[in-house]
Amino acid sequence: MKKYNFNLLSLVDVLADGQYHDGTTIGAQLEVTRSAIWKAIKKLQNYGISIKSIKNKGYVLTEPLVLLDKNKIKKGVREGNILIDVVESLESTNDYLKDYKDAKQERICLAEHQTKGKGRLKRSWHSPFGQNIYLSFFYSFQKDVSELAGLSLLISLAVVKTLKQYYAQGEFLVKWPNDVVYKGKKLAGSLIELQAEANGLSYAIIGIGVNVNMMHAKNNQINQEWTSLREISKTYIDRNSLCVSLINNLVEYIRLFEVDGFSQFMKEWQKADYLQDKQITVKCMSNAIQGIAKGISPQGNLLLQLKDGVIKAFSSGDTSIIKKKNYCRELPKVNA
Ligand code: BTN
Repeated sequence: MKKYNFNLLSLVDVLADGQYHDGTTIGAQLEVTRSAIWKAIKKLQNYGISIKSIKNKGYVLTEPLVLLDKNKIKKGVREGNILIDVVESLESTNDYLKDYKDAKQERICLAEHQTKGKGRLKRSWHSPFGQNIYLSFFYSFQKDVSELAGLSLLISLAVVKTLKQYYAQGEFLVKWPNDVVYKGKKLAGSLIELQAEANGLSYAIIGIGVNVNMMHAKNNQINQEWTSLREISKTYIDRNSLCVSLINNLVEYIRLFEVDGFSQFMKEWQKADYLQDKQITVKCMSNAIQGIAKGISPQGNLLLQLKDGVIKAFSSGDTSIIKKKNYCRELPKVNA
């Protein structure tokens, strides 16, 4: 008996060889009807996947595509007791976990597509189907929310470690507080949503977006300079193994952070600090303050040297590098 509903994963597995496959043969292979195959092809096309269809030849993927495979990911993750959901499409992986409350059970949500991907400061996060990593991690800390400063910095470091394991030549840097950049272009970001609970517990939803295979953004939907791991490494990346490394690194870093806080990661931050000694603007509330970035404090606050030489610490804000001609001239010289 042929099934009508089936997983897109198995269809994409068949098409992954880049050859033509006709609907009847695929249907027989996957034990589903030809019309179910046609519907699934349409679904992929509606998600923006480029599939050509030629009469008497069948369907062909015009770009490489490997979908997320929960079994492969689960197999690679070192800690077997983390719940992992892989969802085809949802609004936001962070929102998917927002009502989850089991302090004893860590949980991860990965999605192929987000319709309302959220960035920091109410920005949106471009989340096309099948191309990037959209991951959220529910973690319950035995700490007060006030002790979680530095968490977003640590997450960026875990992302950098993961990217370097993939492409060692890449100079992946962190831009305070939460960006991972390559040659100044954004490659990844994180959005952490915290909730204070009773008994000194804090729930964190750690959302991470990594541009993996994305080569174009439709209608210029990203309004900042960006890049992707594929563009940098010039190779198509199987996101399954990248997700495995990312999850393993996240778990390792979060566990260390939980025990000994952020200060143990200071050296790692300093090595990866994109802003160090650069002339920057920090936007915080409705203020924009210029100065020279002087690293971070052990709590993870950004240190900014103002024009009178005073160092000001920021616990939140948005940073950008000042292009030379826009910088106010009275700032003291930096001894780099
Ligand atoms: C930023 O740099 O502004 C943060 C981007 C965070 C995006 C990720 S994608 C997975 C998770 N779900 C969301 O809706 N946002 C985060």
